[in-house]
Amino acid sequence: MDIKEISYMFQNQEIAKDIFYVGVNDRQKYKFENMLPLPQGVSYNSYMIIDQKTALVDTVDISFGDIFIDKIQSQLKGRPLDYLIINHMEPDHSGSIRILRKYYPEIIIVGNSKTLGMVEGFYGLDEKVLEIKDGEVLSLGTHQLQFFLTPMVHWPETMMTYDQTEQVLFSGDAFGCFGTLDGAIIDEDMNIDRYWDEMIRYYANIVGKYGAAVQKALQKLTPLDFKMICSTHGPIWKEYISEVVDMYDQLSRYDSKEGVVILYGSMYGFTELMAETVAQGVSREGIKDIIIHNVSKSDPSVIVRDIFKYRGLIVGSPTYSNELYPEVESLLRKIEIRGVKNRVFGYFGSYTWAGASVKRLATFAETMKWTTAQISVEEKQGLKIDNYQACLELGQQIGKLAKIPFVVIPHCV
Ligand code: FEO
Repeated sequence: MDIKEISYMFQNQEIAKDIFYVGVNDRQKYKFENMLPLPQGVSYNSYMIIDQKTALVDTVDISFGDIFIDKIQSQLKGRPLDYLIINHMEPDHSGSIRILRKYYPEIIIVGNSKTLGMVEGFYGLDEKVLEIKDGEVLSLGTHQLQFFLTPMVHWPETMMTYDQTEQVLFSGDAFGCFGTLDGAIIDEDMNIDRYWDEMIRYYANIVGKYGAAVQKALQKLTPLDFKMICSTHGPIWKEYISEVVDMYDQLSRYDSKEGVVILYGSMYGFTELMAETVAQGVSREGIKDIIIHNVSKSDPSVIVRDIFKYRGLIVGSPTYSNELYPEVESLLRKIEIRGVKNRVFGYFGSYTWAGASVKRLATFAETMKWTTAQISVEEKQGLKIDNYQACLELGQQIGKLAKIPFVVIPHCV
């Protein structure tokens, strides 16, 4: 078998008329952005439209550049590649631009002004580019591609491309999730249960700070009819379009479901005992979803995901070097950065000779402007009966507040 035969062997799935999936799975990377664990891997989705002109929508991480080129060549079968549409410049999608230009030197790179600035900044390419503006249409022949600028979802250049002919939305990272595509590519052909929580984890950790920008983008997309949403990560949405759009709407409004997250740090188990007691108090109010995270054990991305899911949050920390326990401090910073809204909050802590953690948690509560329990609990050394009762009371107060009927995110498991 010569090189040419290898290059042409891929049979890429046609997901809509003349639109083909040419993305790849990453089962190797341990942490996305070197921070977020990938227990189920991740896909980098790319799509090719074959018309009078040919166009590729986004590329893939350069680690997969070789197989990506093979897939493209298989699809083109010797035809030229006319356009590369760039919806998002983060290198998990733009990483193969330079190798693509080497194989297809005449390709026109299509993006908005911010995109093209980044193409030059990251990859040194400033020729054969086409700058488009919000709402403009590029004709490939039959397929008419309309561009919608959606800045800060979650980078400044992010945009979406709508194929008016097939009513397919190429959405960039939006509506994407962690998890490889294991054989099937479209939601209706697979069991999608495992993707819901990974979509929330993806959103909360990567897009979560930009709720207002997501809301603007959703309003811009409202007049469009979609038959499919093709994100850059995870399944193509066809059967579950309304569910994923609803989920993005709710997450970006910081809506949540009934339930309480208790996160704590503990060196020797004293603060942990307080957390267990607080949880009993929450349970006494009939709350069924109580998620306890030991910050030294649970992955921060999972904790942040759960804070986006549930209405109540209770944080406990020992005093450490006259500050919060460092892992708790780190989590609070992640919550502050994301500007999480509309939560009910309680806190407790312990110390051995001088208390500082509860004071810091009180400051955090003021910063977040959440509804806060009327009591907090601070214990010196081991838990005693009066503060045991206070921990139960704290849990009950938050349990009551978290029960207030609120919007339920569908498919949160
Ligand atoms: Fe999948 Fe923002 O990159």
